[in-house]
Amino acid sequence: MTEAIKAFNQVAHTYDDWYQHPQGRQVFEAELNAVNSLIPETGLGLEIGAGTGIFAEKLSKKDRKIVCLDPSKAMLIKARMRHQVAILGVGDWLPIRRKTLAFTYIVTVIEFLKDPVQVFFQVKESGKENATLTILFINSESRWGELYRDIGSKGDPVFQHARLYTLNEVRKLLETSGFIVTDSVGTLTSGPMEMEVDRTLRKPSVENGVIIVKSKPQKLKSFHKSS
Ligand SMILES: C[S@@+](CC[C@H](N)C(=O)[O-])C[C@H]1O[C@@H](n2cnc3c(N)ncnc32)[C@H](O)[C@@H]1O
Repeated sequence: MTEAIKAFNQVAHTYDDWYQHPQGRQVFEAELNAVNSLIPETGLGLEIGAGTGIFAEKLSKKDRKIVCLDPSKAMLIKARMRHQVAILGVGDWLPIRRKTLAFTYIVTVIEFLKDPVQVFFQVKESGKENATLTILFINSESRWGELYRDIGSKGDPVFQHARLYTLNEVRKLLETSGFIVTDSVGTLTSGPMEMEVDRTLRKPSVENGVIIVKSKPQKLKSFHKSS
């Protein structure tokens, strides 16, 4: 078990408190709206690092079924309490049959992965043809990125284990794993010190606290010999 996973086990009992805070509630709404806009309306999906299941609960609907996966037992117990289908496991070795899923999404998780490329390879294996992978990440170049780096460097139990990424870095990780970005949006354009959160979806820039990218497997080019 990584130090990050141990940390999530320890903070699980208070993890969702932030979403009750007036600012946290707006951040949740902004992130939920952004993820919702970049995942398919129908099909069976997987949330890797689903934590307490707070996103899966809101994003599930009649024709869009979501399975929660997380290595932190304490976080997953919360997801079960939300009546979510929950599997204990890591994204690095998905306990999912090949070519099963219509989509996968990940919310503030790549920051805590030792090897994001390995996780993306696994996502590709478990997805049907053209299954999408949507990733929400903290924008390393934003004011929110600065804040989380700062609290991490001061020993925050969770963010001391985080590695933040820029949009270009995430794009490269995806390309290395055989995915291509097809769409992207940014939100949280207001800074962490502003209580009124800007929840609009925009073209990604350094102003956005979080960026959401949608990707799909890159088709291998076939080479035909001309006679
Ligand atoms: C910041 S939390 C995000 C939880 C949830 N997605 C949310 O936004 O409320 C990061 C989650 O990633 C999980 N995690 C850490 N390492 C992981 C791994 N290798 N595979 C899958 N999930 C992992 C942690 O247990 C934790 O629940």
